[in-house]
Amino acid sequence: MLVTGSIQEIRSAVRLWKRQKLRVGFVPTMGALHEGHLSLIRTARKTTDRIVVSIFVNPQQFAPGEDYKEYPRTMSADLKLLRKLRVAALFAPEDEVMYPSPPYFSIGINTLHEQMCGATRPGFFQGVTLVVNKLFNIIEPDVAVFGQKDFQQFRILSEMVREFNHPVEIVMNPIERANDGLALSSRNSYLSNDERLLAPSLYRSLQYMEKLILDGVDVPDQMIEHQENELQAKGFKIDYLGVFSRDTLQPVERCDPDGSYVIAGAVILGKTRLIDNILIDL
Ligand code: PAJ
Repeated sequence: MLVTGSIQEIRSAVRLWKRQKLRVGFVPTMGALHEGHLSLIRTARKTTDRIVVSIFVNPQQFAPGEDYKEYPRTMSADLKLLRKLRVAALFAPEDEVMYPSPPYFSIGINTLHEQMCGATRPGFFQGVTLVVNKLFNIIEPDVAVFGQKDFQQFRILSEMVREFNHPVEIVMNPIERANDGLALSSRNSYLSNDERLLAPSLYRSLQYMEKLILDGVDVPDQMIEHQENELQAKGFKIDYLGVFSRDTLQPVERCDPDGSYVIAGAVILGKTRLIDNILIDL
């Protein structure tokens, strides 16, 4: 496996593969790899010949006061996992390589960042689109795989690729969960034992809402309020919980009989922010 932090080195490796008519898949990550990340790699493998993974804890997507410093960095364990999965290259750049200063440019988003995670994390999706835009230009992959776990991120990046004409196919991978339903996340390592036992409640609330909507409840207000109260009673702080249009990511007041929605939530348990979602087609 090629392990490099150099833009030139990763570029020449990828270009060589492309000259050999090999298809290149790309899985961007911030490291602290878990089964969720590995499932993205397995999905990329299905349609490509060489896989590039990036590990870069992107300072631009953390607001002041967020967990940039504490974010888990487990490079030697990550390397082992990537080698086991026969990943062709790891691109792990230093901050200075990705962000030579001063920055003269930034990416603006019009509306898709207004609700859900974007509402309480100012600058977050601008940071994500900036880094992924740069990574696509550096790696030039044929296919890039992202997780449904971060559905808003997937939606925003899909539109970025379309509007900025990146020649890459974007694929969404389903959410990998622990046996009790908790969506896997690098941040789950922040949870205490007691919090870990409580954490799957978010998914259970989303499942409960999914069931009601499938049973024909079309105005989600009351069920949202009920589930927020249940979660709060267990000690969660609610960032958001709701039913959003899959297309616009705006909250819906009434579900249409043939609509596509994402039931999504973000909650805070102790110092850990948990997110999860369920996609629903009526
Ligand atoms: P990170 O949180 O490391 O996630 C990397 C990729 O793994 C994302 O596409 C995310 O949706 C996916 N993922 C995380 N947990 C998952 C799970 N339980 N099941 C399936 N997929 C999962 O997302 C980022 O990094 C960054 O924002 C990044 C895109 C790398 C830009 O910095």
